[in-house]
Amino acid sequence: MAKSEKAWGGVFTEATDTRMERFSESISFDKRMYAQDIAGSIAHARMLSDVGILTKDEFAQIEAELLAIKDRIARGEFEFSYSLEDIHMHVEKALVEKLGDVGRKLHTARSRNDQVSTDFRLWIRDAIDELTRLLRNLQRAFVGRCDGDFDVVVPAYTHTQRAQPVLAPHIWLAYVEKLERDLERLADCRKRANTLSLGAAACAGTSLPIDRNKTAEYLGFERIAANSVDVSSDRDFATEFAFDMAEIAIHLSGWAEDWIWQSTVEFDFITLPQSFCTGSSIMPQKVNPDALELIRGKSARVVGNLQTLLMLTKGIPLAYDRDLQEDKEPIFDSFDAISASLDIAASIVSGATLKRESISARLDRGYLDATSLMEYLIRRGAPQRAAHGVVGRLVRKGIESGKALAEMSLDELRTESDKIESDVYDYLGASNAVNAMKSYGSTAPDQVRFQIDAWKKRLGL
Ligand code: ARG
Repeated sequence: MAKSEKAWGGVFTEATDTRMERFSESISFDKRMYAQDIAGSIAHARMLSDVGILTKDEFAQIEAELLAIKDRIARGEFEFSYSLEDIHMHVEKALVEKLGDVGRKLHTARSRNDQVSTDFRLWIRDAIDELTRLLRNLQRAFVGRCDGDFDVVVPAYTHTQRAQPVLAPHIWLAYVEKLERDLERLADCRKRANTLSLGAAACAGTSLPIDRNKTAEYLGFERIAANSVDVSSDRDFATEFAFDMAEIAIHLSGWAEDWIWQSTVEFDFITLPQSFCTGSSIMPQKVNPDALELIRGKSARVVGNLQTLLMLTKGIPLAYDRDLQEDKEPIFDSFDAISASLDIAASIVSGATLKRESISARLDRGYLDATSLMEYLIRRGAPQRAAHGVVGRLVRKGIESGKALAEMSLDELRTESDKIESDVYDYLGASNAVNAMKSYGSTAPDQVRFQIDAWKKRLGL
């Protein structure tokens, strides 16, 4: 493209090398923000007409034409070119082509520096709203399982060793709590993203009589950036969003890992919906948990994208620097990975079935009720350390004789402590151990019921 056609070509005497055009373009990815770019431009133009920089008629022409451009892009009828660099230039050029000098007035009191920041903030705001919807949807899928699985007792693990028995819905709600923190983090990030950059112009503001309150109002921004130099360089909101998505990825990855091994023949706890599994081309029996593996695998790129944002913004001098153009692809990539993962996760959660018989058949293995017996002794006055020793020795005897604690006779149990009475059998066995629980937030059935009801209410179920 000839230098005279560049929006910034005035001072140049040489044309841009085509390799430079290719190297520096962002249109291939920032066209994804076209709706936000146009919304930002309409709000800016409306404000310019409020303060008399544009006439009402000029604003009306600009608005109508910007909406028409938006339609053309949405319909795939808009032509993009590397030589125009980014979405801002494309929209403006198309506007000028139609409106001439009226179109040339749009960029008054504005720079692409505050424009790109505005577009990105608007895009991230929308992305947060979409992830909020998807996270809620996944929470609903977990909570939706709770009533049906209420009677299922499963082992909880620490160090991947059988630890204590819990109700299956207690596990489902553990994931719901994690997702709730993800939602809180996103809501918090949204507050900072929801700040108006426009009006900062290139970096120092403008001598023209703009009204930033109006622009903020038109775009629904809750605050106005108070320092033009700061906001030109600020990408904290993007880094923060990258972290929030990385944390979601980590939560999803942990859940995927749990369900991958619980669906193996070795565990035989859960059947995954076949619609989210794939087979093997050589082993006809295989039904592989590929969706869960990909959810687990995608956490790698999402965490990598956070690293990219941190490294990108490290050592960026005030104010705008072109490095910052590298901020979008990692965010788009994380968003695509996370939104698809959340959507698929919800279907897997609703579509899976617990293998109740297989779970309960081995529930008396691994001494899940050992802590229940220890607390029985404590209630009868034994010091915790002593009670721990008693139960440890009984478990050792059980392992040697191949018996669960509940299978031992009262005499056998009393060899280690005369505090043990016949009512001990009300506390042995996985279900009894669960029923004996009392504390707030525990797996006690009334506690779990209370939490399920609270979540149902919160999620409108
Ligand atoms: N394409 C640029 C970006 O994404 C837009 C801002 C360019 N500003 C500039 N002064 N070159 O960051």
